[in-house]
Amino acid sequence: MKKMILMVAVVLLIAGNAVAQGTAWVVPAKDKTMKASVDMKDASVIADGKEIWAKQCKACHGSKGLGDGPKGAMLKTNPGDFTTAKFQGQTDGELYYKTTYGFDEMPSYEKKVPSAADRWALVAYMRTLKK
Ligand code: HEC
Repeated sequence: MKKMILMVAVVLLIAGNAVAQGTAWVVPAKDKTMKASVDMKDASVIADGKEIWAKQCKACHGSKGLGDGPKGAMLKTNPGDFTTAKFQGQTDGELYYKTTYGFDEMPSYEKKVPSAADRWALVAYMRTLKK
C-alpha cells in the first residue's frame, strides 16, 4: 500500500511538471483586468519606468524592447519583440502580472522592484516601445 501511494505521488509530480512546462504563460482572469495604480500617460511616470528598465530589463530585452540585449542572446528562450501588435495587444494587467511574477527564464520582479507603482511605471514605459 505504501508503495502504491508513493507511485501515485511520483506520477502526480511528473504530470504536474509537464503541465507547468507545457503551458504558455497563463495570466489569471482577475489579473488581466487589473487597473494601473499610476497615470500611465504621465511623462514623469514613463521617465521612472525608463530608468528602471535601463537597470533591470535592458540587459535581456534591449533598450527598445526588441529582445536584443546582450544577456538576452545567451538565454534559451527569446525574450520577444515588445514593439509588435501581439505584445502591445495584451492588457496592462497582463504586462504587470508577467513583470511581477516572471516565467521560466523571465525573472520575477516582485522583490527586485518591490513597489507596485514602479512596476506599473515599467508597464507605462513598455507601452512607449510600440512601433
Ligand atoms: C534574464 C533576462 C531577462 C530580464 C533581466 C528581464 N526579462 Fe522579461 N523576459 C525574459 C524572457 C526570456 C522572456 C520570455 C519568457 C517566455 O516566454 O518563456 C521575458 C518575457 C517578458 C514579458 C512577457 C512578454 C510577452 O510576450 O508577453 C514581459 C512583460 C517582460 N519580460 C518584462 C520584463 C521587465 C519589465 C523586465 C525588467 C523589470 C524584464 N522583463 C527583465 C527575460 C528577461
